[in-house]
Amino acid sequence: MTARLPKNIVLIGFMGCGKSTVARRLAEVLHYPLIDTDQRIEQDARMSIPELFAAVGEEAFRDREAALLREIAASHTPRHIISTGGGIVVRPDNRPLLRTLGYVVWLRATEEVIFERTRHNRDRPLLQTTDPRASIHHLLTLRTPFYQETAHLTVDTEGLSSIEVAAGILESARYFFAS
Ligand code: S3P
Repeated sequence: MTARLPKNIVLIGFMGCGKSTVARRLAEVLHYPLIDTDQRIEQDARMSIPELFAAVGEEAFRDREAALLREIAASHTPRHIISTGGGIVVRPDNRPLLRTLGYVVWLRATEEVIFERTRHNRDRPLLQTTDPRASIHHLLTLRTPFYQETAHLTVDTEGLSSIEVAAGILESARYFFAS
């Protein structure tokens, strides 16, 4: 079953869990091209994520995200690192589709760590609320079952550097694709 999956590594997980950094490390080590869904959406829209949310709203952003995911899946390109936006698992159709892309890795961090990592950042519209800590808690509670359902591997990033996380993923991916 797994032998038929394209040899991509797909990173999912909440905002501030280190997907982009770990994705860059994996891409460097493997010499695989990196696809970052947020960056692609920004390039296509010629707007930043906050500008896009302000202009068209979250649902239209999700439409673009889902369309991009379908496009990536239809291209059947192996040997890429694919880093996704934290909310990509919210649309039900995206979850099985992500699993067809390759080895799906869920990067996890605690609410406290997520809060610390995101609190001074203005680039995440969903956390620009009067109580970002409560927003994190609410969204994380909603999304945790979706991440769980989508992931082949879960990595707790607590206390690990991005290099250590990437090394763990590589080791595990080797077994996954060999089985
Ligand atoms: C979002 C996460 C963001 C970005 C957008 C929405 C989310 O990506 O896609 O702000 O709903 O969790 P990161 O997880 O890369 O911050």
